Amino acid sequence: EPCEVDFDDPYLKLDFPSATTLPPPCISVNNVAFGYEEGKTLYRNCDFGLDCESRVAIVGPNGAGKSTFLRLLTGEIQPTEGHVGRHAKLMVAKFTQHHIEMMNPEKSSVNHMRDLTQEGVSVEEARKYLGRFGLSGDLALNPIKFLSGGQKSRLAFAELAWRSPHILLLDEPTNHLDLETIEALAMALNHFDGGVVFVSHDERLIEMVADELWVVNKGSDGAPGTVKVWHSSYEEYKERLQKEFATSGLVTNGTVKGVK
Ligand SMILES: Nc1ncnc2c1ncn2[C@@H]1O[C@H](COP(=O)(O)OP(=O)(O)OP(=O)(O)O)[C@@H](O)[C@H]1O
Ligand SMILES: [Mg+2]
Repeated sequence: EPCEVDFDDPYLKLDFPSATTLPPPCISVNNVAFGYEEGKTLYRNCDFGLDCESRVAIVGPNGAGKSTFLRLLTGEIQPTEGHVGRHAKLMVAKFTQHHIEMMNPEKSSVNHMRDLTQEGVSVEEARKYLGRFGLSGDLALNPIKFLSGGQKSRLAFAELAWRSPHILLLDEPTNHLDLETIEALAMALNHFDGGVVFVSHDERLIEMVADELWVVNKGSDGAPGTVKVWHSSYEEYKERLQKEFATSGLVTNGTVKGVK
């Protein structure tokens, strides 16, 4: 059920301005395989293309390699086979919980933003900018350690937007967000004039934003897993999961052990 959201509420404003769009493909994944260790391949035969219109949700069980796949897209890690091509002018910005954990907790949001900018924006400019992400007043002057999880996420969104990327990559962005903010995030992503790839278990965000699902499957018995485009609806994906859990005891202690 959609909740009532007042999009004129400044608290709920999130805004991702985009750089000029690039011609496709922005990122191409060609016959990629990846493993962190020799002989332990996470997945292989991955072929994907991304452009400034892509709206992709990456789904799959814990540990299947979703976050790893985002790192392959950005070039933080290199494939063990195959190639990931990126447009020479491509700018990407990535949201991760890890990034939030790495923020200096003693610094204020305002100084966090100011330190991102070479040219040095003024305190007033930084406050005004953060106000657009729901961090207004004293909130933006307090040390980051005083912010709630959701407020820290807003600061991270403000930072993403600042980079005006062609493609936004988000790894589990809804973890600390309330329902209204999840809807606001979905709206902001839908309005964003660039590509969006996100990893999420949040049905609401997936349903509101994604028009493509990429499923990361774990391999079994030492065999590599796969990353595949899901050609049916998200509804059918959920039905498939439910059927598999029901028939094969894949759920232990509430955790999905593996999905073939
Ligand atoms: N730096 C690393 N070195 C070695 N192994 C790693 C490293 N990072 C992740 N792994 C392993 O690779 C596999 C995939 O990890 P990844 O974090 O990509 O999974 P995920 O699908 O994002 O899981 P989750 O849903 O729990 O976030 C896991 O088995 C993980 O333990
Ligand atoms: Mg992950």
